[in-house]
Amino acid sequence: MDWMFHHINLPAVNVQETRTFLRDVIGLQEGHWIYPDRPGELHHDDDSIAYFGRANRGLHVVRSIVSFARDNGFMHNPTVGGHIALSVPDLKVVKARLDAAGTPYSDAGVYAMSGVHQIYVYDPSFNVIEINQTVTPLPSEKLDQQDLRAEIQLHHAAMTVLDLASSVAFYRDLIGLGEPTVNRRSAIFRNSGLAICLTCLTSGYADDNAAAPTSRDPYFTLAFSDIEPVKERLERAEIPNSGIVSDPIDGKESIFVYAPSMRLMAVVGS
Ligand SMILES: [Fe+2]
Repeated sequence: MDWMFHHINLPAVNVQETRTFLRDVIGLQEGHWIYPDRPGELHHDDDSIAYFGRANRGLHVVRSIVSFARDNGFMHNPTVGGHIALSVPDLKVVKARLDAAGTPYSDAGVYAMSGVHQIYVYDPSFNVIEINQTVTPLPSEKLDQQDLRAEIQLHHAAMTVLDLASSVAFYRDLIGLGEPTVNRRSAIFRNSGLAICLTCLTSGYADDNAAAPTSRDPYFTLAFSDIEPVKERLERAEIPNSGIVSDPIDGKESIFVYAPSMRLMAVVGS
């Protein structure tokens, strides 16, 4: 099945601090969230969400809301720990496979973003994954109000898993991401220049990957036409970063940096 990134949910202890970092240092432009007609209990305010992107795609910076699952009748709390959200053309197919496998999921329906049907499911390592489908395109008058300059290019995302074989089976067979490239400690699913990397942090990983920053938490990379200005802003702000290194997934020039709340991210030259 075809897939693409819809958004990365990036947890933040202090949303304002992460908003300032992404806007003023990384150089992203804030976007405007488009709500459905009947939103759920989203707890959205300036201290609980910052949004970068266009048409609800991109980066969702959120403060964890401990009651979020209960408030919305979900099994999963998508505000805790962050998550990767993938769009698929037919969510029914994914739900049918999860049902057949007896894998529970939270079917949120259209509750947070206009026209987007979302489900949440745990992968075998208890990473929350969101799968969604745009069931109603945004009205043109709302789309016209969205600023093209706020658009974000999510390049790849990575998460750690506890067991590579069961994780590969989950993402390949139940979510439907296709056949990955499998190495000793990682598996990479690719689609149209995008990539999702599963990494198993078994002993010896650090020795084998000394040059590649990693994180127990999910992380993501953003594609920029030129990463040099980001490097200059990081240096001016005296924010520690990797400098320009080779991206471990596709070898492009990248800069790894910890966003506030110690969330690893990278910018990569496109
Ligand atoms: Fe999400």
